[in-house]
Amino acid sequence: MALNWQRQCISAVLLVLALSASQVTSRKLQQVSLSERHEQWMFKYGKVYENDQEKDRRFEIFKNNVEFIESFNAAGNCKPYKLSINEFADQTNDEFKSLRNGYRRVSSRLISSRTETSFRFENVSDVPAAIDWRKKGAVTPINNQGPCGNSWAFSAVAATEGITQITTGKLIALSVQEIAFCETKGEHQGCQGSDRNAEDAFEFILRNHGINSEANYPYNANETTCNKKEEAFHVAKISGYEKVPANSELALMKAVAHQPVSVSIDAGGSDFQFYSGGVFTGDCGTVLDHGATVVGYGAAGNGTKYWLVKNSWGTSWGEQGYIRMQRDVDAKEGICGIAMDSSYPTA
Ligand SMILES: *[C@@H]1O[C@H](CO)[C@@H](O)[C@H](O)[C@H]1NC(C)=O
Ligand SMILES: *[C@@H]1O[C@H](CO)[C@@H](O)[C@H](O)[C@H]1NC(C)=O
Ligand SMILES: *[C@@H]1O[C@H](CO)[C@@H](O)[C@H](O)[C@H]1NC(C)=O
Repeated sequence: MALNWQRQCISAVLLVLALSASQVTSRKLQQVSLSERHEQWMFKYGKVYENDQEKDRRFEIFKNNVEFIESFNAAGNCKPYKLSINEFADQTNDEFKSLRNGYRRVSSRLISSRTETSFRFENVSDVPAAIDWRKKGAVTPINNQGPCGNSWAFSAVAATEGITQITTGKLIALSVQEIAFCETKGEHQGCQGSDRNAEDAFEFILRNHGINSEANYPYNANETTCNKKEEAFHVAKISGYEKVPANSELALMKAVAHQPVSVSIDAGGSDFQFYSGGVFTGDCGTVLDHGATVVGYGAAGNGTKYWLVKNSWGTSWGEQGYIRMQRDVDAKEGICGIAMDSSYPTA
């Protein structure tokens, strides 16, 4: 069976190689249609470039990305996920990383000083085989952080919206803006939030005695000063937060069985940049540079187990803004380090 699958994969790769050889002759033609595709893509995503020079530069990057994505997909039997040309197709991977991935884990990082907390789900033995907090009404629509490194705040907000709905029955979108631009303890402010993670957001909500709704203090990455709203407008509170013991997918599963959980992942690869569906199995490392929220887990049609992860890159990325990431891998850190640095707020 495995051998068979491998043979299929190899012949697909050979086919791609053969195709690309024959494509050399039609390269001129392809160039024309690629620039048309770039125009269409610009129209679709409302992209405007400052001048022709910038447009040419962006076209080159677009072209490289299209080639990367198409050769990946053509070799499709090798990986159970697909890539697609999305909103980020005119950015190099380095640009993408520096614009979006707000959280770089450094050993001296934490503003929040707690290294150990209790873990209330430690003795849980009975967890469902699958759960999807969206179906239980505990997940708000997908957000888009824009070119702003504050995924740590989005990650914490989704977990806080989850526990609030679970305990009060009310699903209310909460203000990322209040956390990202009124949290002043980090070395970097607002969009450059690279030294923070969800725990810093939970500590902010605690100090702030709650948090406003998104409706009352909406997200605007251009408005970078704190415009603090009064406590009277707070629509959610937490009593604290706990860490999930590191490097245990079982511990993470016990927590997610009870509520959405904030996680840190390595989202820096090109595969991640252009992921469009399926169960993501890597390439990725464990350099945690991005915050997201696990809102469920399950198994795909063919039995591959996954984590259901809510991202904050809009709905044109991934599976309507979500990614399914492989679960129960050999490495104790989990795929892309998903089991290394997780936490959740308590009601
Ligand atoms: C099931 O999914 C896995 C993903 O890990 C993939 O490697 C495998 O080829 C799939 N199996 C079948 C029978 O499609
Ligand atoms: C789990 O069980 C152990 C042994 O009974 C107990 O000491 C510990 O307090 C329990 N943990 C929690 C979070 O209830
Ligand atoms: C921020 O400003 C840019 C440029 O003026 C604009 O295109 C974008 O829509 C603004 N974003 C938000 C969230 O207001």
